[in-house]
Amino acid sequence: MMRLMLNSVIGVVLMSSTVLAFADAALSPMDIAKREYDEVMRLSPNIDNGRRVYTTCAVCHHPEGWGTPDGVYPQIAGQHRTVIIKQLADFRAGNRINPLMYPFSVPGVLGGAQEIADVAAYVEGLLMTPHNGVGSGAALALGAELYQDNCTECHGAQGEGDANEHIPAIAGQHYLYLVRQFDNIRSGQRKNSDPKMVRQIQGFTPEQEFAVLDYTSRLRPPAEKLATDAGWNNPDFPNFVRDPKRDLQPAPPVTE
Ligand code: HEC
Ligand code: HEC
Repeated sequence: MMRLMLNSVIGVVLMSSTVLAFADAALSPMDIAKREYDEVMRLSPNIDNGRRVYTTCAVCHHPEGWGTPDGVYPQIAGQHRTVIIKQLADFRAGNRINPLMYPFSVPGVLGGAQEIADVAAYVEGLLMTPHNGVGSGAALALGAELYQDNCTECHGAQGEGDANEHIPAIAGQHYLYLVRQFDNIRSGQRKNSDPKMVRQIQGFTPEQEFAVLDYTSRLRPPAEKLATDAGWNNPDFPNFVRDPKRDLQPAPPVTE
């Protein structure tokens, strides 16, 4: 009798976990990221805890969150919190693939929804670099025209993005990072691409792409979001050993 009962209990447990597994399998990675985004957005961020969580991120993104002009690391400082949340949820769900970033997005390292809310609020509040990497400057008039016609609708006239629609701010981002993401979005390597943006940029020639992204990298974020000098150190991380050349190195030569 006991054994029978136990068997049926195990049976029910097995069945319900199978049903759950099926329910989860029915969710696409995009649905999973969306569910996490909504969950994070319902929480109130704790900035102090965000600073603690950011200790792990600082190893690559540096205490300042300024990224590198070679385009490997993006500037994340000052980005809309909604964008940071969406991107973290997307890395985690596999909608954006990057072997460096992925291991640090998983729950065992980054934490759960609350930690995402906290670290995103902390990063949004960081001052941005006044000296991001830019392009060659050779075709800025063409870049301005292309930007007006193709990008302002979503990213705003000053590249400020849209926090409510989690559209990234792209003003002041490193030029070579912009190029890499533009290519990843167009090719579909980045699975969280906005389908309308993909259509919009589909026909860009390399010359047009470099022109519009050079122009974008030179759009200035509002003065209050920028650090006053390129040697600024985030005082929250006094003991971090910094590369003295970190942001001062000129952007590598642009090959077009
Ligand atoms: C091992 C290095 C590394 C660590 C640690 C790391 N990241 Fe990243 N992160 C990257 C790289 C590289 C990219 C660029 C990914 C790409 O090119 O698609 C990135 C991209 C991002 C982006 C997307 C920015 C954008 O505008 O596209 C966000 C947001 C981000 N990281 C936040 C974090 C946070 C928060 C942490 C800490 C929990 C963290 N990262 C830890 C390497 C790292
Ligand atoms: C229809 C709206 C739309 C248009 C038009 C559009 N974008 Fe986007 N763009 C987006 C959205 C939304 C994302 C974020 C997608 C995601 O990861 O969820 C994005 C992401 C990006 C990124 C990656 C930023 C980052 O931090 O990872 C770059 C670079 C970019 N856009 C540049 C441009 C440029 C340049 C143009 C004009 C040539 C343009 N976009 C036109 C909506 C748009």
